[in-house]
Amino acid sequence: KEHVEKVKQFTAKTEDELEQFRIEYLGKKGILNAFFAEFKTIPNENKKDFGQAINELKQTTNQKIEDLKASFKAQLDEKGIYGDLSRPAEVIEIGSRHPISVVKNQIIEVFSNIGFNVSEGPEIEDDWHNFSALNLPEYHPARDMQDTFFIQTNPEDILLRTHTSSVQVRYMENNKPPIRTISPGRVFRNEDISARSHCIFHQVEGLYIDKNVSFKDLKQTLSYFTTQLFGKSKIRLRPSYFPFTEPSAEVDIYWGLETETDYRITKGTGWLEIMGCGMVDPNVLKNVDIDPNEYSGFAFGMGIERIAMLLYQVEDIRMFYENDIRFLKQFKSVL
Ligand code: PHE
Repeated sequence: KEHVEKVKQFTAKTEDELEQFRIEYLGKKGILNAFFAEFKTIPNENKKDFGQAINELKQTTNQKIEDLKASFKAQLDEKGIYGDLSRPAEVIEIGSRHPISVVKNQIIEVFSNIGFNVSEGPEIEDDWHNFSALNLPEYHPARDMQDTFFIQTNPEDILLRTHTSSVQVRYMENNKPPIRTISPGRVFRNEDISARSHCIFHQVEGLYIDKNVSFKDLKQTLSYFTTQLFGKSKIRLRPSYFPFTEPSAEVDIYWGLETETDYRITKGTGWLEIMGCGMVDPNVLKNVDIDPNEYSGFAFGMGIERIAMLLYQVEDIRMFYENDIRFLKQFKSVL
């Protein structure tokens, strides 16, 4: 009777405790077996009472074990649904945008503020859009300026685009002037990989075509761009050559403490080349059925990595592709 009371009072916090309890009462050397052994020695007249008492104890014990098991299971189910409600919240790791995307978005923002839209095209191109339409006919020596990955050379050349000027050709084929568009995207060149250059990189090229567009408009637009992106800055245009523009120029930005924005303390100071540009060659306009007597325009193209390296003082272009978390995490605060 005492034991029956004890069993009724019993509670277990863990399944281990419950198992201990089961062994204590129902195990081979447990209390119940001890009572059963004792039963034989009990005088006949007491056997009935004793037997009933043992049975009651056995039933109560079994019941207790089942009840406790059920309550453990209920607790588990509840945790499965709600978790432990007293548990402190977990820290959610917020990712960061890749610096190439960050800078690409910054460039898009600056140009969209003056009416440029964004155009995109395929990374696998045909000869026409990457070269011929851009005033680079077959065997033109300037084709060697951009070492090309060819995918197919017969019956026609299919290649990985070497610049996003190919997108501009497609855009001019499908849209009438006035045109104001920038073409961001990945480009490919068969070049040795080093701290300064990679065989895969990103460009933003721009195209503006309308009536009476002049070289002055080009320079003004580029000054606006560098000022927006880098803060107060000096640029200069240096004569250069591209088959698709005439005249052509290379854009240099002055890099150093003299530019008044002293956060730009970096190893190299002086004039640094950041992009190519020029007035769209009349032959290019003809190739896409735009009348060069009615329209003129300018184009420019820059490498996003190059700009990102200057903006964030990245010393090695390969860091953009290694996806080293320690590098990427540094861009958490920039959107
Ligand atoms: N397409 C040139 C390049 O990839 C850049 C450029 C674009 C130059 C437009 C002039 C005009 O190097």
